[in-house]
Amino acid sequence: MRERGVGFERIDVRQVIFDLNDATLEDYDVVLIRCLSHSRALYAAKTLQEKGVRTVNSYEAIATCGDKVLTTLALIEHGVPTPRTAIAFAREPALTAVEEMGYPVVLKPPVGSWGRLMAKLNDREAAEAVIEHKEALDKSQDAPFYIQDYIHKPGGDIRTLVVGNETVYAVYRSSPHWITNTARGGNTSNLPVTPEIDHLSRAAAEAVGGGIVAVDILEDSDGSLLVNEVNHTPEFHGAMQATDADITGRMADYVLSIAREER
Ligand SMILES: Nc1ncnc2c1ncn2[C@@H]1O[C@H](COP(=O)(O)OP(=O)(O)O)[C@@H](O)[C@H]1O
Ligand SMILES: [Mg+2]
Repeated sequence: MRERGVGFERIDVRQVIFDLNDATLEDYDVVLIRCLSHSRALYAAKTLQEKGVRTVNSYEAIATCGDKVLTTLALIEHGVPTPRTAIAFAREPALTAVEEMGYPVVLKPPVGSWGRLMAKLNDREAAEAVIEHKEALDKSQDAPFYIQDYIHKPGGDIRTLVVGNETVYAVYRSSPHWITNTARGGNTSNLPVTPEIDHLSRAAAEAVGGGIVAVDILEDSDGSLLVNEVNHTPEFHGAMQATDADITGRMADYVLSIAREER
């Protein structure tokens, strides 16, 4: 923004009060949400939008991306290929769903990131144990079981960044572990944006409401590509080392194009 000579302010949501009855936030043309916390991003975006301030991403896109159940439903609704997934709300149907899907399966918290609290269940005993523990430890007894087919991806997965209508980069995150997040030690290397990766990434972004999003893509054993999830506040410290793409420049230009629309 500084390079582009644009006036901007940085707001740390932990330092401010959003007075819901106050309507004095309208001075901003646009607010780029960069909260890593899902609930902070969600509430900040909703509050700003209600006060007439455009946000990137939109509240709707953040709400969808921040919840893996809603993301999967959006991908399916828009015909974007994604691993087979089921949800269940209690132990018995969860175990039945796991058995029907066939081992291995992956169990994920619907809201979460950085590969935290993922479980790969290789057999019935592991499934029983993890499902029982999840149920016992979930004090609210409220989070659904998100049960997904395990994709035998070859040594890593693909991560792309979509800004507006453009796939800015693709990288490969490789790891000896099945969880490949950079936050979990995954190693990032550059990958060409093939027409297939480009098409799939933009379709996934569009399915969740667009904006600036990062798309996780898994390669199945038959070579087909499946969208795993879409992230609403992309981090790119790994990609910055691996690609020459002007990541922040593309993001800044996109935000400015939205600001111009608003004017
Ligand atoms: N169904 C799956 N099959 C194989 N690997 C998976 C599957 N789901 C997730 N993973 C691995 O776990 C990582 C984290 O899962 P993800 O759904 O992206 O959650 P997070 O929001 O924590 O990044 C993925 O990047 C991928 O390496
Ligand atoms: Mg992910």
